[in-house]
Amino acid sequence: MSLLIKGGLVVTATGSYVADVLAENGKIVAIGVDLGNTADEVVDARGKYVLPGAIDPHTHLCMPFMGTYAQDDYKSGTIAAACGGVTTVIDFQIQQKGESIRQGLNRKMALAEGMVAVDYSLHPAITDPRPEVIDEVKQAILEYGTPSFKIFMVYDFRVDDATMIKLLERTRKHGGLVQVHAENPHIIQHMNEKLEHEGKLAPYYHAVSRPNIAEEEAVERAARLAEFTGSRLYIVHLSSREGLAKVKEFRSRGIDIYAETCPQYLLLDEECYKEADFGGAKYVMSPPLRTRESNAALWGGLKAGDVQVMATDHCPFDFNGKKDMFGKDDYKKIPNGAPGIETLLPLLHSEGVVTGKISLEKMVDVLATSTARIFGLKDKGAIEVGKDADIVVFDPARKFTIAQDKLHMNVDYNPYENRDVTGMPEVVFSRGQRVAEWQNDRVEFVGVPGHGRFVKRVPLRD
Ligand code: URP
Ligand code: ZN
Ligand code: ZN
Repeated sequence: MSLLIKGGLVVTATGSYVADVLAENGKIVAIGVDLGNTADEVVDARGKYVLPGAIDPHTHLCMPFMGTYAQDDYKSGTIAAACGGVTTVIDFQIQQKGESIRQGLNRKMALAEGMVAVDYSLHPAITDPRPEVIDEVKQAILEYGTPSFKIFMVYDFRVDDATMIKLLERTRKHGGLVQVHAENPHIIQHMNEKLEHEGKLAPYYHAVSRPNIAEEEAVERAARLAEFTGSRLYIVHLSSREGLAKVKEFRSRGIDIYAETCPQYLLLDEECYKEADFGGAKYVMSPPLRTRESNAALWGGLKAGDVQVMATDHCPFDFNGKKDMFGKDDYKKIPNGAPGIETLLPLLHSEGVVTGKISLEKMVDVLATSTARIFGLKDKGAIEVGKDADIVVFDPARKFTIAQDKLHMNVDYNPYENRDVTGMPEVVFSRGQRVAEWQNDRVEFVGVPGHGRFVKRVPLRD
């Protein structure tokens, strides 16, 4: 099976040029000025961008959480991913009490088996750090193909600093990476009690209860422990100007600290929590939406290279029956999370590249190239000979108005409803197979669930 994409603007993390791209049996085998016209499938990409498929390294598919579950399973979630130009997903496998890392991975892989529409990997999230689990980190890095480990500094299933130190040491030794959800639980607990006492329980107070300092302090503590152990560290879903300032400070001291942010922390702010009719509940996520100052700081962080990865933290809960039921009288009970896997690329292009906040090459870097490098996805993340033919032919001029009923995520609302975007995927390929394409007024899935494979990632050695 061969695929020839002709005459598009091939975009890499460092530059762009017009070329043909030839793929055979799922791999890119040639890139050149005129590679002829003979292939099983020929795509005219003149006037279009040829991008590496985006990688979303932060999703919660089928996740039980706060008394309910994230609604997208591996089928609907990866169909939505494909339609948004995301061709690799790294999902979280949150360890259950008593489980080994291997058992947790097997549990999630069984759910994914035969369902995934694009390739996927898993990050074990360590919540029950028994000594044998800490010992298993080596195997997870070297044998299971999962070299990144998430820990939570907040929630009931958080780990303590001693566990963080142990994980940082093990990952340094064997080529792994610790990812942290950085929020200080004591500040949040204190604010929760205070707000409860004052009867302030509407969705807006979710943001008040988790002030910027809660992120700033946790980023600083994690970074100090990474400095102490000489390890690399990755901050997930960075949301605040203050948290970013800490990332910058430690990076300037030579600490290997990476940061990820998400479209919601660039484009939405705490005013959303005031939406009428309990609508603010749609935006209840942790960390919370911040102010416009934080939005602007994070755009600056992306541009300057202090934030290296864009992800979604895709964690969908219906508004009707979930968001509006669980926390009607108390923001603390509203399931935390929001959908986003399908809108990542269109939003970053429209709001970042079209507005001139970041370059096209930076977009490719933070959506694919740098993500693949940081997480050990050696065959993904770039339009290069030898890489998987995960390719998005992207129409930079296509107009689309984001609407929940034109998208594929299994959820009843969209945080960006009615937002106009410029630029949408025209055709999406996963290892050379067409999985999604623009038809009439939206992108449609044209692939096969089960085509996606578990990708073993390599240890991180640079
Ligand atoms: O609110 C969020 N982010 N929900 C998903 C779990 C997490 O903290 O990433
Ligand atoms: Zn988190
Ligand atoms: Zn998350």
